[in-house]
Amino acid sequence: MRAITVEPGIANSVQLEERPEPTSDPSSLLIQAVALGVCGTDREIISGAYGFAPPGATRLVLGHESLGRVLKAPGDSGFAVGDLVAGIVRRPDPVPCVACAAGEWDMCHNGRYTESGIKSLDGYAAERFRLDPAYTVKIAPALGRLGVLLEPASVLAKAWDQIERIGRRSRSWRPKSVLVTGAGPVGLIAALMAVQRGFALHVMDHADSGAKPDLVHALGGTYHPLVLPTDLSVDIIVECTGAPQLVLDVISHLDGEGIACLTGLSAAGTMQPFDGGDFNRRLVLQNEVVFGSVNANRRHYEAAMTSLASADPAWLGGLITRQVPLPRWREAFEKRRGDIKVVLLFEDLPA
Ligand code: BGC
Repeated sequence: MRAITVEPGIANSVQLEERPEPTSDPSSLLIQAVALGVCGTDREIISGAYGFAPPGATRLVLGHESLGRVLKAPGDSGFAVGDLVAGIVRRPDPVPCVACAAGEWDMCHNGRYTESGIKSLDGYAAERFRLDPAYTVKIAPALGRLGVLLEPASVLAKAWDQIERIGRRSRSWRPKSVLVTGAGPVGLIAALMAVQRGFALHVMDHADSGAKPDLVHALGGTYHPLVLPTDLSVDIIVECTGAPQLVLDVISHLDGEGIACLTGLSAAGTMQPFDGGDFNRRLVLQNEVVFGSVNANRRHYEAAMTSLASADPAWLGGLITRQVPLPRWREAFEKRRGDIKVVLLFEDLPA
């Protein structure tokens, strides 16, 4: 079978190669890949900047945003042949730490977790792969190929779960407005979840025309190309760019008791002018919270499924701006103007 693999740490070592079929294992699900979402983390791994091969291997099978169809399922697994599924990305560390032991591997304390297609565990960019039922999520059949959005949606379901938990520290806080920075797939799904919660929405991105503003307007949100009005003040910020200067600047738009959730990853080493005194003063005097959020546990995948299943399928479809068949796989990892979510197709969905 064909699989897309990479030698972590070696730039542009990515290739489509022949790999043996998955070994037989009666306790796991055998999955036929249907589609794979591509994200910035994949490109970072391809560039050699991130990623780890499984122990004893030099290459890693790429891919963590999966959509597959069950080919074989153990009788007691809760899955049936033909089910559309997605694989959970992270697995608990082997210790396990208290968080992983409680099923909250997204909060792993010791960093020894593994991640499919990212860290020490082969991913889902293979025609067939095996999944432990404990790390598999059933896709609502009505979602069909849009189920490929489940993994990025799970990351935002976790972010929103955390925002809501933090929000409960105050008995009087009644948030009304949300600012999302970045209108890529992560930002747009954050925006969708903001509107599903009844918030007034503001989204900022560098694109000044095209699908991004259209998708924000379709949600009833206000789109800010490039700059934010200086007087914009919101209760919640979901920062999805990881751009160091923006991360620092955006905090000034938080209203009293506000919560800013950082979801974007950035490289270390960029020095920014930063007024630490003002930052501290704002947070203390206004009871503000700035926190980071990564990954998702099973609970978040399930919340993400509920959110996607209740969204307008045409709007969700608008997030997928390119679909690339496997023989042209290299194109899927190219960053092109106007891209939001690019999806690699392993096969067509049955009609
Ligand atoms: C994935 C997360 C993962 C993170 C860090 C993101 O692209 O969506 O599941 O935890 O990268 O590796």
